[in-house]
Amino acid sequence: MRMYDIIKAKRDGFSLTEKEIDFIINGYLNGDIPDYQMSALLMAIYFKGMTSSETSMLTMAMARSGDTVDLSEIDGITVDKHSTGGVGDKTTLILVPIVAACGVNVAKMSGRGLGHTGGTVDKLESIPGFRTSLNRQEFIDTVKKCGACVVGQSGNLAPADKALYALRDVTATVDSIPLIAASIMSKKIAAGCDCILLDVKVGSGAFMTKIEDARKLAEKMIEIGKKAGKKTVAVITNMDEPLGYAIGNSLEVIEAVNTLKGTGPCDLTELCLRLAAEMLCLAQKGSYEECLKMAKDSLYSGRALDKLVEMVTLQGGDPTVILNTNNLKKARFFHTVTAERSGYITHIDTECCGKASVLLGAGRQTKDSVIDHTAGIVLSSKVGDIVNKGDIIATLYADDESLFPLAEDTLLSSVEIGSEKPEPMKIIMSETLR
Ligand code: URA
Repeated sequence: MRMYDIIKAKRDGFSLTEKEIDFIINGYLNGDIPDYQMSALLMAIYFKGMTSSETSMLTMAMARSGDTVDLSEIDGITVDKHSTGGVGDKTTLILVPIVAACGVNVAKMSGRGLGHTGGTVDKLESIPGFRTSLNRQEFIDTVKKCGACVVGQSGNLAPADKALYALRDVTATVDSIPLIAASIMSKKIAAGCDCILLDVKVGSGAFMTKIEDARKLAEKMIEIGKKAGKKTVAVITNMDEPLGYAIGNSLEVIEAVNTLKGTGPCDLTELCLRLAAEMLCLAQKGSYEECLKMAKDSLYSGRALDKLVEMVTLQGGDPTVILNTNNLKKARFFHTVTAERSGYITHIDTECCGKASVLLGAGRQTKDSVIDHTAGIVLSSKVGDIVNKGDIIATLYADDESLFPLAEDTLLSSVEIGSEKPEPMKIIMSETLR
């Protein structure tokens, strides 16, 4: 078998066989296939696509490329959730304790920030002492003790995806539906849960900017999950403005804790309750209405907040920063950004907003950048709000004041103010896709 022939076949629109896909994944991981040939193949896939069966075979080859987690020691159904990535997306910090407090086990592996999007592991690491790197037994024991554990992906989980993702990132081949579907589902399948809930984001801050594409991506991932024997459902949700008001790691932990106290932003609270109810349904806790009621009880009774405190403590984190978020370390400097004209906020370019927070130090500009957990943005207004010229629309936080001018310009360029009231935004953009 020759990589040249495989590239040519895909370039000419043919489907690849299972043997060819295994050859590509094994060959790339062991160094036999060089980056330039893999890049050419990725670009051919980007333009010619993949059939459903090719996408499933690619997913399984990537899932098998490293360790697979065996969660069979945990009694009962285990549920996982994955967001396709966004700005201000702190749902995991809220959802996991809501669901665990309802008696469903959540054994979750999360990622770090990627480009303009944030990552749960970075957010959790803003809690002093919190360990996101546990060995398999510690991970399972934590779930057994409190029903919830969130860790970073183990070094050897779907290593083929890790290598391919890094290459896609620099060859303009990230936003391909089969490649995204295979990337996400390979990790979810290797992570070992029984059921998977997919939160597929759509809008200016998401990989999918059109609802039709988000639907296609969701359908592809559901099909792959089912073929792998996992109960999989998806909901398409809005990422055409940041979720909630806070963007940046410890700022998002504060907003997540406020949400668990019942005082969070409406969009974030509505999304978390919907996703929590979906996870409870997957775990066969009852009808959707019953599960939504359970999720609300868990949130508004304070049991979910207690669960977060328990999980943080078990994972080595300082629970006092959850009990009182004033104890979290703060950025040394802040800077307010004001509206340049009066009117309605008609649009927030969410990717651009995410980039502004990366410029402040909340995300990585290169693979090796060290992030500042205290940095980020707290918006004061969202789409549909009226502002007067000079009103504060956001506050920037950083440890270095010289970062403010560029971040401010970037943020201001992301916010459009107009005279017409925009249509109200919906947070949930689809029915449950099965
Ligand atoms: N998240 C992933 O894990 N992979 C992708 O390709 C895109 C988003």
